[in-house]
Amino acid sequence: MNNTFKELKNFLSKRNGVKKIFVITGYKSYNLSGAKKIIGPLLKKFQVKFFFKKEYFPTLQEAKLIIAEIKKFQPNLIIAVGGGCVLDYSKISNFLTFSNNLENEIKKGSYSSKNKYCRLIAIPTTAGSGAEVTANSVIYIKKEKYSVEDKNIKPDFFFLIPELILKNSKIIKKSAGFDAISQAVESLFSLKSNSSSVNFAKKSLKLSLNNFLGHLNNPTKYNSIKMLMASNLAGKAISISKTTSPHALSYPFSSNFNISHGHAVSLTFNNCLKFNFVNIQKSNSDFNLLKRYEILFKYTHTQNIEELDKFFINLKKNSGLETNYEKLKINIVKHADKILSEVNHQRLRNNPVKMSPKNLKSILINQKE
Ligand SMILES: [Fe+2]
Repeated sequence: MNNTFKELKNFLSKRNGVKKIFVITGYKSYNLSGAKKIIGPLLKKFQVKFFFKKEYFPTLQEAKLIIAEIKKFQPNLIIAVGGGCVLDYSKISNFLTFSNNLENEIKKGSYSSKNKYCRLIAIPTTAGSGAEVTANSVIYIKKEKYSVEDKNIKPDFFFLIPELILKNSKIIKKSAGFDAISQAVESLFSLKSNSSSVNFAKKSLKLSLNNFLGHLNNPTKYNSIKMLMASNLAGKAISISKTTSPHALSYPFSSNFNISHGHAVSLTFNNCLKFNFVNIQKSNSDFNLLKRYEILFKYTHTQNIEELDKFFINLKKNSGLETNYEKLKINIVKHADKILSEVNHQRLRNNPVKMSPKNLKSILINQKE
């Protein structure tokens, strides 16, 4: 396999013209994951400056601090070691330049920079989003979620080091792992999917479905690297196809109720899966949607939509992902309209079947798990 620790070691030992390295990480990502022990020694011969992020979600306020630090330190290389938030920060701050009007530029999608500051290495410490290979980055401006998208935002290199995700808590692993699974499934159904994205999604699902529960309950170096590869492949799949309805509906759960990303995606995952199947005749796709479901039947060893639904209900139960709104202390009837007003329409447009507001409400509320 490429992109291993050995190759990171090789890359840094050759120096590649690098003198100054700016490391973006989190205190937990760097110390508890073991990165300090594993990656730390490789950095000794360079001039290194660390930025430890503090926020849980990537905020523009903290991103501005990082942009200013980068400008001051003038590195030749940035290394990001962490989960989704750290990777988003590194991608954004290596791409955007400081401007007093940054808020509006992000809101309008007209950024001051179209080039990278320097080369960026991404080293994920969770197996989920595949952010190390995607060309977009999430950023929150006053609790509102925005996406910065540009081909130049994508990291130049990534390295997958299984030791760094071995010690992740079960809470992180179940949410991140389900994100990878959902991204691959959504990619299969997306209107923007093509033969390459389908191939990436298939490879990803084969790995994630075989290793997700093992990685949760009996983590080994083997199932950890398989889950890292599954997220990486799902990231490559959605880079082409983007995500669909479960992601579109997930963001309000994260911003209003602090539900972690993959967990939030899992809440409406089954209802979206069933809705698209029941309305298969209304699909707007230029591909045969039934054939995409057949891929899922094959990988989950199921025969029909009822069995497929049960498969994912059991997967969520066995991984400990709570989907019951009451148990999550979410009064869904009371908050449905607010959640629906915050749905991401850009993602929703990729869903193979058009969802009316009435459809969305019933997908959101009628939960039989
Ligand atoms: Fe995701």
